[in-house]
This record gives sequence, structure tokens and C-alpha cells, in this order.
Amino acid sequence: MTLSKSGTAGSTSTTPAPSATGFDNADLQQKAKDHLWMHFARQSTLEDGHGVPIITRGQGHHIWDSNGRKYIDGLSGLFVVNAGHGRKRLAEVAAKQAEELAFFPIWSYAHPNAIELADRLASYAPGDLNRVFFSTGGGEAVETAFKLAKYYWKLQGRPTKHKVISRAVAYHGTPQGALAITGIPAMKEMFEPVTPGGFRVPNTNFYRAEEMGFAGDLDAFGQWAANRIEEMINFEGPETVAAIFLEPVQNSGGCFPPPPGYFQRVREICDKYDVLLVADEVITGFGRIGNWFASTTYGFQPDMITCAKGMTSGYSPIGATIISDRIYEPFKHGSTSFYHGYTFGGHPVSAAVALANLDIFEEEKLNERVRENSPLFRAELETLLDLPIVGDVRGDGYFFGIELVKDKSTKETFDDDESERLLRGFLSKALFDAGLYCRADDRGDPVVQLAPPLTTGPAEFAEIAQILRGVLSEAWTRL
Ligand SMILES: Cc1ncc(COP(=O)(O)O)c(C=O)c1O
Repeated sequence: MTLSKSGTAGSTSTTPAPSATGFDNADLQQKAKDHLWMHFARQSTLEDGHGVPIITRGQGHHIWDSNGRKYIDGLSGLFVVNAGHGRKRLAEVAAKQAEELAFFPIWSYAHPNAIELADRLASYAPGDLNRVFFSTGGGEAVETAFKLAKYYWKLQGRPTKHKVISRAVAYHGTPQGALAITGIPAMKEMFEPVTPGGFRVPNTNFYRAEEMGFAGDLDAFGQWAANRIEEMINFEGPETVAAIFLEPVQNSGGCFPPPPGYFQRVREICDKYDVLLVADEVITGFGRIGNWFASTTYGFQPDMITCAKGMTSGYSPIGATIISDRIYEPFKHGSTSFYHGYTFGGHPVSAAVALANLDIFEEEKLNERVRENSPLFRAELETLLDLPIVGDVRGDGYFFGIELVKDKSTKETFDDDESERLLRGFLSKALFDAGLYCRADDRGDPVVQLAPPLTTGPAEFAEIAQILRGVLSEAWTRL
């Protein structure tokens, strides 16, 4: 596998910017080359003269680059801009809050927005998930859940329960604790040893389940996959396992939804062995799967939810770990406190923006919209299954992956060189040049991922599918 979080390379222009955009593209490219360190990216793309796509503006589900070219934002930035770009109301709320109280910590103090947002998140979260610990993003939310799980078991007099289980190819963030939960070896080998205690079980990639003897039997595959968690708990010893971290729909690898009954079986296993179930909803929260949280969609009760991204639709950063009454209980009394926090956790501006963003969700019924339109999005993408390179279309809500294969009948995937040539050498740039920003990812088998703003509908789905058809057809001829 070639390591790439986001193969979204694009524009090759180094020509002076058209004055209409107000940006001097050549000057920006030079400064980026001299000083900017991009995340999860090859800096050589800055060095080799091609430059980097510079995005300057967004409106609705469109973005524009520094040359004035317009694109469909097929990934909501990075699964973030759920309510769409260019919402003046959110910008105004941020400005007003910055004027009134730009910053105050929630370290032994509080401010109204953090309190209101905690109340709102608790009301959206399933069951008794009533306590909210803020951070500034998803990785910190995962880190918080990991530390809290260990501490919780220590407070229960069971200090050896400190290991964590997660799934193969899953991404849970970059802090060293979250990295121990992340299941992508190529993303962590250079930082080893990461925090010890992370163990991996199979994910719910049903497309590849046939090779394991589950052809067509999704329910049986789901039970098998869930039972691997029980097996791992027993391999390691139940008295050593603190928690399991699962995304309701696993992103990395290309949108693996849970088979029916999977999470119910996982819950049973967690209850049997006293293991905390953490739903990592950093992507799946806030409407992406058609509910505030996808735990609700799939009908299971986690002990903690981690979330971030769509909470503010990206207008300001924030993350949160939402915690059950049971886990919170030992912290209610006496001198016990959770020695953990972030200066910018629950930032007043971000919390104000989150509240306004969630108001927009309610007013425009974005969750309902996703539930209603998701089958249409799926059907539109499934029309691509007639292309020889498209092996599978999978996902849920407004979150789909298209797996690319070399041979549909055998499901043979591409080797590292082919994947490199296909994804980095052609697809990412070709899709972008054709007017679609999305993600070509090969952290697992090669996939193209789509997660447009929740304001999009059938017309945009058709436009996206049309661009994909053209570019994927061309990709096939280049193999
Ligand atoms: C499931 C999941 N968990 C955690 C993270 C880390 O979030 P952040 O990049 O905000 O730290 C991500 C980021 O994409 C994610 O998808």
C-alpha cells in the first residue's frame, strides 16, 4: 500500500493569477513552496513545479481556486462542511462572539456557549450519554476517550484494564494514543513505538468477505466479524481490555457500513466482558448518516461517542467526547478529577458557531434530507457499476466509497505501482480537473470517496456521477 491520506492533488498552474480572483497565484505558490508544510502530503508536489491547488472561496456545495476555477466539493472539505459553504449567519455568529468574549477556558470556569452546547449535544446523543468533554478536534476527542477509559477502570479498582481494540485499516487520528488505535500500519511505523496496548480485529469489508466464505450472507459475516472482538478480548484477557473503538461506518478502506446485527452483537460482547464501547463518530456524526449520530441509525448504545468535524460545519474547530452517566459517576463526588484538557477545548467562538450550525440543521431538516435522498445518491453511484474498473459501491447516508479493481470477476486489486500510477498519477488530478473535488484513497484497497454537503440533492448526485463516469472510463484505458 502506498501511504496517502488524501490523494487530492490537482491544479498544475504556475501562471499568474487572473486578476478577477484577487489572488496572485504565482506568489502564493512560491510562498507555499518556501514555507508551507502540508498535512499527509508529499512536499515534493510543491517542489516539482506543479504547485498545489489553492482554494480561495466556497459557496453552497461549490469551491473556487486561486485561478477562479469552480469545483463541486464532493467531500465537504474533509467530511466537515455539512451545512455547506458560505453561510453568512455562521460567520456573523463567530464575529459577534469574538467581540463579546473571544476566549475563556473551561478549566474550573465556564462560559454560556460551552454550557449550552454540552446541553444540546447531550440531548442529541443516545441513551444516557449526558456528559460532554470538549476538545478542539477528532483526534483529541479519541485521545480523551482512551485516557478516560483507562482512568475509569482504575477508579473501579481494575487497573489492569488498559488495552484498546479497534479494526484493521481504521483511522482514529494522529496523537500517539489515537495512533495506537489507528489500524493503518503504514501510517504509524515511522512513529513506533506508539502508546502500547492497541489491538486490531477485522473490519466489516463485505466486498472481500466472499474470500472468507461469506458470499452473499451479510448477517453471518456480521456475526463473524463481531465475534472476532470476543476472540481478541479472550486472547488478551478480559481483565486487560478497557475499550473498543469503532466507527459506525468505517471511513478508511472505503466506507464499510455495519452488517445488520453487528453492533448489537458487539454491545453484547462488551457487556459480557466489561469493555467500554466507543463510537468514533468524527465523520458519521451530525447528519452524515442521516441522524445526529449514526449510533442512533444503527440502533446501538455506545458508552462514549467521539465527534468533531460537522459539529460546526467547519466554520470554527471543535471536538467532543460524550460520556455515559455510568462512566461519569465516579467523577461526581469528592476530590476525583480528570487531569486532562485543552486550552482551546470548547472555545467560545466555536461553541457559538456549533449552536448556530445545529440550529440550521433543525430549521432546514438536514438529517431528514439525508435519510430521504441517500437511496437516490446510492442509486446514482450504482449506475457506475457497469464500468469495468468499478468493483463496488458502498456506504450510507451521504457517505459513499467506490472501490476500483483490475478485474471485476476476480475482484483483483491493483498492486502498489499500479495504485500509485492510477490514484496519484491520474485519478486525483483528473477528477479535480474535471471539476470534482473528492478523495482517491489507497490506505486500504483503492477507493474514490464521496461525502458532499448535506444540502446537495439529486441534481448534484447526477453531476457527480457524470464526472466520475468520464474520468473512471479514461482511467481504465490508461491501465
Ligand atoms: C473516525 C475519525 N476519528 C478521528 C479523526 C481525527 O480527527 P482530527 O483530524 O480532527 O484530529 C478522524 C479524522 O478524519 C476520523 O475520521
